[in-house]
Amino acid sequence: LEKLDGLELPAAADMHVHLRDGAMTELVVPTIRKGGVNMVFVMPNLVPPVTTVRHALEYQRRLQELEPKVTFLMSLYLHSSITPEVIRKAKHAGITGVKSYPHGVTTHSDQGVMSYEEFYPVFEEMEREDMVLNLHGELPPSAGEDITVLSAEEAFLPTFLDLHRRFPKLRIILEHCTSAAAITAVKTCGPTVAATITVHHLFMIVDDWAGDPHCFCKPVAKLPSDRRALLKAAVSGDSRFFLGTDSAPHPASSKRADKYAAGVFTQPHAVGLVVDAFEQAIGTGVLTAEDVTKEKLEGFMCSNGRAFYGVKDDRNERIVLRQSGATIDEILRSKDGSVEVVPFKRGKMTWGVEW
Ligand code: NCD
Ligand code: DOR
Ligand code: ZN
Ligand code: ZN
Repeated sequence: LEKLDGLELPAAADMHVHLRDGAMTELVVPTIRKGGVNMVFVMPNLVPPVTTVRHALEYQRRLQELEPKVTFLMSLYLHSSITPEVIRKAKHAGITGVKSYPHGVTTHSDQGVMSYEEFYPVFEEMEREDMVLNLHGELPPSAGEDITVLSAEEAFLPTFLDLHRRFPKLRIILEHCTSAAAITAVKTCGPTVAATITVHHLFMIVDDWAGDPHCFCKPVAKLPSDRRALLKAAVSGDSRFFLGTDSAPHPASSKRADKYAAGVFTQPHAVGLVVDAFEQAIGTGVLTAEDVTKEKLEGFMCSNGRAFYGVKDDRNERIVLRQSGATIDEILRSKDGSVEVVPFKRGKMTWGVEW
């Protein structure tokens, strides 16, 4: 991969991030550009969730003030208060997508969706208004006794495919795919469907999070065969697959509690870690050096996501990759010391990014 050292690429777009509220926001937003990223799609699972246009715009303004050189694409949290009327208002206010969380499967999803049918009129309006539906693709444990963290994503795929069949022009993103079955399902869909892949799922399997709270997230990392499918999809050149880190910071104290929170924090090294994951996959023979070209990196990290969302980088910025150019912090601490976050692969070297 020496040829990637010094490689210049367009600034990356990270199409799935959690930026939280309050002191946590102030801690993590300044790390976006450090990771090589100048555009993000922001998740709405705050407390309370972002279910109104006013809340989304107010949140966007706060983020923009903290970091004027990042574009923040905003989303609403699918909820019974979201009507076709809200969708029209959201579209005209420049809000990009609506994220659906199944009830009870992950962080702050207690207000999530119990039945998709209730939302068909909303999806119809989204289809008309050309808004994006972002699916957290897991069935809740209450859906059946055979649903576990290992099977929840695969068990959701019929629901996902049914939504695509009912609303073929609705742009749908199956967020944070973790299984070979999900990759296969996305490939069977039309061009209105895409999938994000996180960087931590390019590294991890079950063994990595079993016993390590900092590697625990939803959906959980699956088997080596699933990880291979994700790596191959990421460099396949299929423009329906692109980066959404799902970087999900939690206070260190809630990661070290009896029952720890789901979420892996990768924001400060988003691009560097992707290159690292590909390098590791070449080392283990999962990918070849020929798989990891400038075009493939650019497609996965920079252009496919922007193309699907129909947005350009108005700043036209470039980044340069540096091999072993960065050391990941052990911990990030807010100025007033009130919040601490432990990053993925803390203390390790990774690829650096220069602007
Ligand atoms: C908080 C949130 O989402 O509101 N995150 C969490 O996981 N508890 C972060 C915050 O309040 O700053
Ligand atoms: O691991 C996760 N963390 N998965 C999610 O879907 C939500 C996220 C969070 O908000 O912490
Ligand atoms: Zn999710
Ligand atoms: Zn997420």
